[in-house]
Amino acid sequence: MKRKIIPQIEPYIGKEEIKEVIESIKAKWISGGPKLKKFQEKIAKLFCVKHAIGVCNGTQALYVGLKALGIGKGDEVIVPNFTFIASANAVVWAGAKPVFVDVEKSTFNIDPQKIEKAITKRTKAIMPVHIYGQAAKMSEIMRIARRNKLLVIEDAAQGVGVKYKGKPVGSFGDVSCLSFYADKILTTGEGGMVLTNNDEIAKRCIILLNQGRTSRGWYIHEHIGYNFRMTDLQAAVGLAQLKKLPQLIKKRKRIEKLYRKYLADVDEVKFPYIDPDGFNVPFRITILVEEPQALMEFLDKKGIKTARSFYPLNMQPCYKIKGDFPNSLYAYKHLLRLPSGVNLKETEIKYICQEIKNFFKKNVSKATSK
Ligand SMILES: Cc1ncc(COP(=O)(O)O)c(C=O)c1O
Repeated sequence: MKRKIIPQIEPYIGKEEIKEVIESIKAKWISGGPKLKKFQEKIAKLFCVKHAIGVCNGTQALYVGLKALGIGKGDEVIVPNFTFIASANAVVWAGAKPVFVDVEKSTFNIDPQKIEKAITKRTKAIMPVHIYGQAAKMSEIMRIARRNKLLVIEDAAQGVGVKYKGKPVGSFGDVSCLSFYADKILTTGEGGMVLTNNDEIAKRCIILLNQGRTSRGWYIHEHIGYNFRMTDLQAAVGLAQLKKLPQLIKKRKRIEKLYRKYLADVDEVKFPYIDPDGFNVPFRITILVEEPQALMEFLDKKGIKTARSFYPLNMQPCYKIKGDFPNSLYAYKHLLRLPSGVNLKETEIKYICQEIKNFFKKNVSKATSK
């Protein structure tokens, strides 16, 4: 019997999302309306912040957040060298320069000890990213920011439900940004949000994403803005997802535990360190192996879809910046993302782990027969 393909990731959506979307369509609220308002209020409550402002995606949420903080030409923003490229690109589009800082070898989050060395007269902000659903060291980062009078913009695109010392990530920075892309912990298809406790920053965000005015149906524009709005159709999906969030988090934690259990006796496989100061929500299950590419190709033949991790930003063809970033390079060279969808069954995880073991057995017999 042919085995079905096990995807690397898939959204956990179903009849609850369909019901909410149908409600929006029946009510003829398909752009921003009551569901968006409710979704924003619920997200603000979840993250313990005053304002949550819906944006069309996480990249634009970062851009809007940076502009609302007054960051632009001549400014520098410290960004981890190991993250999705959108973190740095948003800084560039805001008119500023991203300055890359290496990550810790244990968690692959920005290394606070290296942040201070990267601060210059032009540095305006630090952008920690909570990578793969694990909190960056926010106490140290906030201390450095205060000491150097810097702003903090948290990229919490991968951080819904993640906590640091009991506090939600996304509630530390002057501004924080979420992504609700299809692969995220909580999805609306495409979508994002800006979070802040500051009324003035919130107002600037709304003006910027809403054609330079605070509300629709008003045609005097004091500023030149954009249309980066979120819709009620997206918010409808988000509201259904929010109801499932505790379940989604529990399922992700269970999957992580099962992988760790079934791979515990495989010496060739290591897992990233989980910082006990945080509460992680495994956005992706990652392992560290000597040759991720070979393992990925082997598993692909068995119908198991995996993926490599981020290419260090400084090495990206569009950035190409010289520097010493050994841990970002190590992460790229060794991390492999295993199937991480919340629909995964224990039998599938067992099968994936068995195939990983087969890969190493095969490679040992190859090496010994040389
Ligand atoms: C760390 C990080 N920042 C920003 C983004 C951008 O979010 P979006 O895809 O919603 O624009 C992502 C999306 O994958 C991300 O992982």
